[in-house]
Amino acid sequence: MKFDLSEEHLAVKEAARDLAQKELKLGVIERDRTMSYPKEQVQMMGELGFLGMMVSPEYGGGGMDTLSYVLAMEEISKVDNSCSVIMSVNNSLVCWGLETFGTEAQKQKYLPKLATGQWIGAFCLSEPEAGSDATSQRTTAVDMGDHYVLNGTKNWITNGGTSKIHLVIAQTDTEKGHRGINAFIVETDWNGVAIGAKEDKLGIRSSDTHTIMYNDVKVPKENRIGEDGFGFKFAMKTLAGGRIGIAAQALGIAGGAYELAAAYANERKAFGKPISGHQAIAFKLADMATQVEAAKLLVYRSAWLKDQHMDYTAASSMAKVFASEAAMHITTEAVQVHGGYGFVKEYHVERLMRDAKITQIYEGTSEIQRMVISRNLIKGGLYVPV
Ligand code: CAA
Repeated sequence: MKFDLSEEHLAVKEAARDLAQKELKLGVIERDRTMSYPKEQVQMMGELGFLGMMVSPEYGGGGMDTLSYVLAMEEISKVDNSCSVIMSVNNSLVCWGLETFGTEAQKQKYLPKLATGQWIGAFCLSEPEAGSDATSQRTTAVDMGDHYVLNGTKNWITNGGTSKIHLVIAQTDTEKGHRGINAFIVETDWNGVAIGAKEDKLGIRSSDTHTIMYNDVKVPKENRIGEDGFGFKFAMKTLAGGRIGIAAQALGIAGGAYELAAAYANERKAFGKPISGHQAIAFKLADMATQVEAAKLLVYRSAWLKDQHMDYTAASSMAKVFASEAAMHITTEAVQVHGGYGFVKEYHVERLMRDAKITQIYEGTSEIQRMVISRNLIKGGLYVPV
């Protein structure tokens, strides 16, 4: 068992850390306050190859493994989680989903632009009445021979207002349950696609979250992903990988909050010495660091399983549920270590605490992750021989 990172992995981590600490940190507090989309920062991430990290070079991507992507997500999430969620959805839900399940024509048409960040993609599954219960889709796509007609509403869509393409999950046959669901590539400038107002959120405030309406949108048949009826499995398989990205985001938030708390505790003096010298704070820091390390092992292992082409469904849910709960706890403790300074927006920890909450909700709530883990335990698919 090896725990050290290769030189290539260390280089990716260093490049992401550089980008986050030197570029993304500038203005992050103001962008959060004003809910301003990080346009320049996203462009920078595209130019540096962070938006299509795992896409094969033949389609314009970096051809990197999942662990590289996780390391980059972790470093960027220590600083700006609006940038990291944009990156995560584009890399793991949109690009990975398309490259793994798309036709050659779909890949050639869409991946080069998505992988380089010229276009951003969105993954449209959640609906007003179908969030956790993903089989209960109300959006319909009616088969008209050479095209489908799409109608319905999706909500909480990350990259909703800025994306050029949507991967939309819709019901094509209500009689068939999950086997009557399909996934489609929809271009957002097609007739009938309408973008609702930007959500005013607790955290990840400068990312772009919208409700989307589809009114009689004509989708060519060649834009369906996979065989007829594959849409639900497409969504589940893609989300299983996406959860590794969100787990890495939570790990970054936890690690970033710990780093800030430790630095502050070494500087801030009370009762004649740095507060890190008082056992009450020293033990808090010890617990925080221990949880970060435990989350790291689960997150890196789930990425490793995916890279070995082994079953990672339960592992990615375990990583997400543990890392997101650790992020919530550690960021709350980081605010506590900072005292009154932790409660004001001038310091970064309160933003990380607000950002942590969404990692327990999107790409499946903690409750859904426990469902996935327990079902895989029952199936016996959890312990993969290594
Ligand atoms: N891989 C392959 N197949 C899978 C699978 C997986 N990971 N998970 C389920 N399936 C298959 C099952 O095997 C089953 O197929 P068969 O009938 O052929 O055996 C079929 O799919 C149906 O599975 P279930 O009976 O388990 O389905 P369910 O209705 O009970 O739901 C669920 C399962 C896990 C709760 C699922 O609905 C789910 O994951 N819900 C949460 C959805 C979610 O994560 N939403 C987030 C939105 S995206 C987002 O947040 C993006 C963003 O903007 C940041």
